[in-house]
Amino acid sequence: MSDELSVRFGPAVEAWLAKAQPGPLREKVGTLRHAYEGGASSARVDLAAYLAARAPATFAAISATLRQIKSLAPEFAPVSLLDVGAGPGTASFAAAAHFPSLTQARLVEGDARFAALAEELAPQLPFAATVHRGSLLNALAPANLVIAAYVLAELPLDQMAQAATHLWRATETVLLLVEPGTPQGFARIKVARAALLKAGGHLIGPCTHGEACPMQGADWCHFKTRLQRSRAHMHAKGGIVPFEDEAFSWLAVARFAARRPEARIIAPPQVGKAGVALRLCTSAGLQDEVIASRAKPAYKQAKKLRWGDGFSRHETGEA
Ligand SMILES: C[S@@+](CC[C@H](N)C(=O)[O-])C[C@H]1O[C@@H](n2cnc3c(N)ncnc32)[C@H](O)[C@@H]1O
Repeated sequence: MSDELSVRFGPAVEAWLAKAQPGPLREKVGTLRHAYEGGASSARVDLAAYLAARAPATFAAISATLRQIKSLAPEFAPVSLLDVGAGPGTASFAAAAHFPSLTQARLVEGDARFAALAEELAPQLPFAATVHRGSLLNALAPANLVIAAYVLAELPLDQMAQAATHLWRATETVLLLVEPGTPQGFARIKVARAALLKAGGHLIGPCTHGEACPMQGADWCHFKTRLQRSRAHMHAKGGIVPFEDEAFSWLAVARFAARRPEARIIAPPQVGKAGVALRLCTSAGLQDEVIASRAKPAYKQAKKLRWGDGFSRHETGEA
């Protein structure tokens, strides 16, 4: 994990692994992958395998969404954090890297082993952090920023609306949900989105509008972030390339209306001779747009656009 934002988390994880000496992790990582692919419960997941092989990726995805929140709501400076389904505290470490305004965090974790792990790592957070063992579905102490990362997958889909509104009640300013970028992960985000809009939330992202989500059928809204793999991470996964791409779905909802771009780029832009083809989510539904290469300044701008970026016509000089 060489991302500069992982300053604290990477070393904390590596120090824990060095101390725990878990031995060869490859087999345990394989078991962990199957457990999550086959319907997701962390109850039997090996802690060392999670730290070595999953936490770097969940950290990267959470960081990518926090970066978006910061750019869309630059005035947001949370003081308190509630990290539910905290696992080792991944979201707390990511939030620490992005929000120096934080002075306190409460981590809620249902599994005794993960709660103990979070307690071991928490002293390395730059703010006061307490770990509470219990379900996120129980009463929660409110905080400015509430993060539920990669935990909704462990609740039944039919509890999603209820879980989302429960988290919303504990949210003083911003609620962030992050899930695997799979059809199942997105299905949870989509149900939560409808429930949170109904509860009066303002969407910060990735949605640029509060109309019904236009993503239907086999399509699902997800994005990717690339992370560097540490040697331990590569070894644990038996990987040969020093990076991996983590697919994630996310939703950030606020108690205030944030500045939003007109549309979100929901697939990798295709750059061709005719122009840059963009797949967009807009308030009028999903749209394909080509920024023609003959429209020189707009085309030059459009070539810099990436999957997941916001898109506003006036910013590319489009009419
Ligand atoms: C996949 S891990 C994600 C950990 C961390 N948020 C991350 O992004 O790396 C899911 C965590 O949620 C915890 N969890 C699952 N259901 C929970 C519940 N109802 N209440 C609290 N924690 C829960 C699991 O024990 C596990 O530690």
